Amino acid sequence: MKKMNNLKFGILLGMFIWSSVQAQETPIVMPGAAATCIGCHGPQGISNSPLWPNLAGQKKDYLIKQLNDFKKGLRKDPMMNPMVVNLSEADIEALGQYFSSLK
Ligand code: HEC
Repeated sequence: MKKMNNLKFGILLGMFIWSSVQAQETPIVMPGAAATCIGCHGPQGISNSPLWPNLAGQKKDYLIKQLNDFKKGLRKDPMMNPMVVNLSEADIEALGQYFSSLK
C-alpha cells in the first residue's frame, strides 16, 4: 500500500513538472482585460493612430506604473483614465506582462 502511494505521488510529481515545463514554452495568452485596449493600442500592441502609443515590447514595470498612475489620477488623459478605473491589481499585472511580451 505504501509503495502504491509513492508511485502515485511520483506520477503526480512528474505530471506537475512536465506541465510547468510546458507552460514556460507556451506564449502568454491575451488577458481578458486587454479586449478593450487593443481597439486603440492594437492586438499586437502596435497602435494604428499617430496619437496612441505602441505598447509592444515596452518594459513591464513601466507599463504597470503608468496604469497605476492613470488609475490614481497622477497621470491624466481623457481616453486612458476611464480605461483603468475598474482594473484590479491582478489585471494590471497581467496587462503589463502581456504587452511587454509582444514584439
Ligand atoms: C480610446 C483609445 C484607448 C484605449 C481603449 C486604451 N488606451 Fe491606453 N492610451 C491611449 C492614449 C491616447 C494614450 C496616450 C495618453 C497620453 O498622451 O498621456 C494611452 C496611453 C497608454 C499607456 C502609457 C503608454 C506610455 O508609453 O506611456 C498605457 C500603458 C496604456 N495606454 C495602456 C492601455 C491599456 C492596458 C488599455 C486597456 C485597459 C488601454 N490603454 C486602452 C488610448 C487608449
